[in-house]
Amino acid sequence: MNFGCDYYPEHWPEERWEKDVQMMAEAGFNVVRMAEFAWVKLERGKGQFDFSWLDKAIEILSENKIRNVLGTPTATPPAWLAASHPDILRVNKEGIRTSFGGRRACCPNSSTYRTYSEKMVSKMAEHYKDNKNVIGWQIDNEFGGDGEKGLCYCQECAKNFRQWLQDKYKTLQKLNQEWGTVFWSQTYTEWEQIPLPRQLETAHNPSLLLDYRRFISDSYISYQKLQIDILRKICPHKFITHNFMGLFNAIDYYKLAEPLDFIAWDNYPNLRFTGGNKSPAKVSLSHDVMRGLKEENFWVMEQQSGPSGWQCVDPNPHPGEIRLWTYQAIAHGAEGILYFRWRTSRFGTEQFWHGILDQCGTATRRYEEVKKIGQELKRIKDELIGLEFPKEVAMLTSYDEQWAFDIQPNNPKFNYQEHFASYYQILNTLNIPVDVVSIQADISKYKLLIAPALFLINDELVDNLKEFVKKGGTLIITFRSGIKNWNNVAFDEPLPAKLNDLLGIEVVEYDSLSSVHRCKLKLIHPEIEPLQGECDTWCDIIKCRGAEIIGRYTQSYYKDEACLTINRFGQGYAIYIGTNPSPEIKGSILRWAIEKSRVKSSFQVDPEDIEVILGRKEGKDYLFFLNHSNKYHQVKLDRIYQELLEKREYFRDSLMAIEPKGVRILCRT
Ligand code: GLA
Ligand code: ZN
Repeated sequence: MNFGCDYYPEHWPEERWEKDVQMMAEAGFNVVRMAEFAWVKLERGKGQFDFSWLDKAIEILSENKIRNVLGTPTATPPAWLAASHPDILRVNKEGIRTSFGGRRACCPNSSTYRTYSEKMVSKMAEHYKDNKNVIGWQIDNEFGGDGEKGLCYCQECAKNFRQWLQDKYKTLQKLNQEWGTVFWSQTYTEWEQIPLPRQLETAHNPSLLLDYRRFISDSYISYQKLQIDILRKICPHKFITHNFMGLFNAIDYYKLAEPLDFIAWDNYPNLRFTGGNKSPAKVSLSHDVMRGLKEENFWVMEQQSGPSGWQCVDPNPHPGEIRLWTYQAIAHGAEGILYFRWRTSRFGTEQFWHGILDQCGTATRRYEEVKKIGQELKRIKDELIGLEFPKEVAMLTSYDEQWAFDIQPNNPKFNYQEHFASYYQILNTLNIPVDVVSIQADISKYKLLIAPALFLINDELVDNLKEFVKKGGTLIITFRSGIKNWNNVAFDEPLPAKLNDLLGIEVVEYDSLSSVHRCKLKLIHPEIEPLQGECDTWCDIIKCRGAEIIGRYTQSYYKDEACLTINRFGQGYAIYIGTNPSPEIKGSILRWAIEKSRVKSSFQVDPEDIEVILGRKEGKDYLFFLNHSNKYHQVKLDRIYQELLEKREYFRDSLMAIEPKGVRILCRT
């Protein structure tokens, strides 16, 4: 197991480094990440490179068998560069150039920024190519992060955007036709007339907006490629990764992940004041989204290890929480855990973003917890590397869909990610292992697919879904699917367009509900418990064209009309959920679909607070029990198990106690 922290030796006097490294070694660390913000320390002025301080830190670390991942420092170009070349800075929606002072303020299309980045990365790669203690690279830091989602509206972006459009549509006539620019007299007669979507009193064309999001995403991917090409050429034997941001969605993460050796991500479960307190299921969803990017295991490059905060201080991780988050990550496929950060900074924006140590630098309660994890991992490390996960259920997503909903949420209450998470959450509570994969993934291996809100549809996607169901799969699709084509233009066919025959329905009308408005419905299918409940946000009024009705509205002018349906298609079933039902109703439908498609849960019976995750390796099953609550729980076991952390055996029918925030890892062969 790769285990360590994010280390900023440049923030502390050199005399302290030995002590830091000694404490890291005592905690069982074997890897640190460094340098991702250290541009000015590595290039003091144009062409004045100096790697000596970093060499020294690497040496001290390697004397203690701690290896290094180096970040290319391009997220924070130095003041001297911004002062001489302000064109590296992004221009915001209002057309104003961002000022120097924060970080990640650069435009990925700025040719000056690209030239200086190229030089910096090449020098660094040359310097470390033969250093065995540098095992890999993290490119830049969190592309797209720190406000405005990395969007830029500068002149170079405008030029490149028009080229990007030209490559895509070839002719202006085609673009005009695909975007429907006849609307509001927006027909373009020269490429130069096409605007960047800067701030307007009204709103831009949704097709232009979607292409612009794709273009900016491609710009980061191209900027990343610039660095990858250099590193692959100079250091072919070192790995390359990037630190992603979980559910962040401004960049097409599938494309960004593609050229990397593996992906890493930054996991902050508890940002109560700064980013909302994530439920344990949301954290698990983030892990599963990250695992799905390359359909491979991953690293956590930054794992929260203290109270976070820039201006205000978030709550401290309670005893056991850092350990719980660590095993939660491992249970979902993490093969590297690096805590952010080693020691809390005395200065700068992140003075209150606490690490393992506080500013004073002595061992804290959190350090002792990390040390305990280090000892445990040392003992069991190899068993938990290379876990595989059951492939029975998948949830499908795409960034194009997410951008289209960002542009037009359809209903003020509708949030694609929350909608998606509401289904994941139920599966998570039922201990059903889930893969979250791209709409382009090979879906044939799964038994049950959930595809929330496929707003945009293309032929390839429709064919894949049909093929999946035809061969016996169960598919669940939710409302606002099959509305538009891939250029964000509505279909001129009955809804859900292209999916009517698969779903055996037609949506003849819909009602977008106000935020206080709810509707009532009931389940009426003979195989499902006849529940009554509520729904909100959106009501599709469905006419069956071959499908059977699962549920009907019991209120409003569409009382007695169908809202939930199931259609036999080939060997399988396609279920349509035409509204946003309460969790109980969703739960009933999901449990039924799980049973119908013969999907197995990781572990049948357990208290709701406990997440159970199943990983497999070399014929062995590993069951992770994570107690996310503050209560003691007992779990009755169904057979003999070996427990890895307590190092003991449990017999059939015995009760396994799990303390608040506790973790157990059961192994069965
Ligand atoms: C991100 C960054 C880190 C640090 C933390 C805390 O995850 O990658 O450098 O800034 O947030 O803000
Ligand atoms: Zn720009």
